[in-house]
Formats: sequence, structure tokens, C-alpha cells
Amino acid sequence: MSWVAQLARPDILALKVYEHAAWRPQLERLHANELPWSPAGADPRTEVNRYPEPQPRALIERLAALYGVAADSVLVGRGSDEAIDLLCRAFCRAGQDAVLLCPPTFGMYSVSARIQGARVLTAPLSMEHGFALDVPQLLERCTPDTKLVFLCSPNNPTGNLLEEQAMLRIARALAGRAIVVVDEAYVEFAGRPSLARLLGELPNLALLRTLSKAYGLAGARCGALLADPEVIRLLRKIIPPYAIAKLTLDAVLCRLAPEALAEGKEQLATVLAERARLTRALAGLPRVRRVWPSDSNFILAEFDDAGAALEQGCRAGLLVRDARGYPGLGRALRITIGTAQQNSRLLEAWS
Ligand SMILES: Cc1ncc(COP(=O)(O)O)c(C=O)c1O
Repeated sequence: MSWVAQLARPDILALKVYEHAAWRPQLERLHANELPWSPAGADPRTEVNRYPEPQPRALIERLAALYGVAADSVLVGRGSDEAIDLLCRAFCRAGQDAVLLCPPTFGMYSVSARIQGARVLTAPLSMEHGFALDVPQLLERCTPDTKLVFLCSPNNPTGNLLEEQAMLRIARALAGRAIVVVDEAYVEFAGRPSLARLLGELPNLALLRTLSKAYGLAGARCGALLADPEVIRLLRKIIPPYAIAKLTLDAVLCRLAPEALAEGKEQLATVLAERARLTRALAGLPRVRRVWPSDSNFILAEFDDAGAALEQGCRAGLLVRDARGYPGLGRALRITIGTAQQNSRLLEAWS
């Protein structure tokens, strides 16, 4: 039995997949109980009256090329949120298995795990070391029934990259025992390469990527899991058959065309320049106690009175994220880098 089959839920391995309407675009469709007309006012090219292609080939190939991996290592879904959910569902038996995560971190890992009935174990990041991984602590806390380890790099809400060698040590130590899922939602802002180049070498490494952040497509809902082809095949068994809307497919392919990519590079450069400016300016405000260095498109900052700062932002028409609910971040707000004008207005509201 392969290592993936040993880790997966036996009932998912045995599941007979839903047979979606066959994808035969060269034939006229009288097999899927759709209406044959586009709705009035809709562009017929969007084909919204038709079910979309399940796991669209063109999108998978485009994302494989973008991320530098083989097409059979890519699963596309409605944001990386969907991949997090599918991983929990495919690998964790309710009431028996666990996931491990490193708080303070992105909230969906524990939410998806709990919905699935999995236990949530934690190995907190070390605040004294700039929210770094504590590898010995993590490996010690990883029980034999831990199926998934979520690492977020750059981490939300702290903004920092995790050390690459630390992540690789964890993946090597857990080879065959757990899948180490590195969430790279913000990696494009970090100026460092993705771990995608190491997927072949470390089969239990899986990566989450998204079009929602650096590619500006949060509203289209599209993200990807890059992983061992056997993991991808398993998740394809349980992803809803028509997860990617045709409108989403069109929006993503359009965003990944050469002209749009060139424009995107300029936007990225603007975000990075504004991140540097905002970091400096925040550090100079008397009410700000600490600004954490960021490798992403947001900044975590600690205030004398975070509640008042939040309120003043709202009065200026600007909403930042209250991060005080995260463990150890009782005075913190998370500020997304906006346009230069928005950033200046925020600084003015806090001056
Ligand atoms: C670390 C991290 N991972 C994943 C996501 C979800 O992204 P998506 O829009 O691809 O579902 C977010 C969204 O904020 C995030 O911060």
C-alpha cells in the first residue's frame, strides 16, 4: 500500500466517485439537463447556461506552467480555502485523527479541521524569534495520528516568511507519516522562491497557492493545491464536480495573459514600495508600540490602544483587521497595503 493510501481515510479510498456529465465539447449537449439558451443579456461566450468543465484542462496547464510543476500535481478549487477543507476531509477520520498548526496563524486550518471532527494540535510560533518555527517543539507535539501539518509562509497574520530549512526539516522528519502543507498564499510578495521546486524530492510536501492575493482575483475564487499526483487524484474524488465556474476560468486565463502579467508586476512593485513606506511611517507614530517586518501585502502592528486606532480608522472610512483575538497579539491590528492615497489617509487618521 502506498504512503498516501496508508494516510488517507479508508472510506474515501473506497468511495465510488460521482459520475459527472461527460465533457465532450465537440458534441452538442443534450446530456446534462441544462437550458439550451444563454440568459437574456449574458454574453453567450460565457456559456453560463452550461455546466463548466470539471477540473478545466486549460486552467490546470496554465497554473502548472505558472508554478513550475507537472499538470498532474495540480488541483484547482474555489480558493485555497477549498483545498484546506478537502485535505481535512480526505485524511482525517472524525474523532480519531488530528491536524497540527502553528498559531498565531490563518484561521481556516482549525475551522476546516473542526468541521471534519479532527483534533487540533498546536505548536506556537516563537514570538521572541520573530514568529519563527520551533522545530523540536513541533515534532514533539506531532502525534502518530496527526495527518496534516499546516505551515503558513509568509504567515497570516504576522506577515513573516518561515525559515525554509526549518520547513524542510519538518517535511523530512514526517515523511510517510503526515502531509506537510505549506500555505504560500502571500509568497509572491516575499521576493523568495516557492518551495514548488522541491515537490518531487519531498512527496509529503504539499503547497497551497492562490490567485486571490498577488493576482488580484479574490472575487473569482480560484486557488490551487500542488502535491504528489496520488494526493491530487484522491482529492479529485471528493471535490464537487463543477467547482470552477466558467466565469472564473475566463477571469483567471485573462489575468495570466502576458499583458496582464506585465501590469501585475507593476502593481506588485507598488505594493512593495508602499509596504516599505507604511512600515517606516507606522514605526514613527507615537501610539504604535511595534511594527513587525512583513514579507506579505499586510503589516502587523501593535498599538497602545488598538481599539481606539480601529475606531479612528473607521471614522476615516478605512477598515483594518482587528488581530487582538490571536494568541499573544492583544494589542495588534493587521493592515492591508492599499493604494498610496488610502495608506496616507490611514496614517493621517493615526497621526
Ligand atoms: C494564509 C492564507 N491562506 C489561504 C487564504 C484563502 O485564500 P483563498 O482566497 O485562495 O481561499 C487566505 C486568505 O486570506 C490566507 O490568508
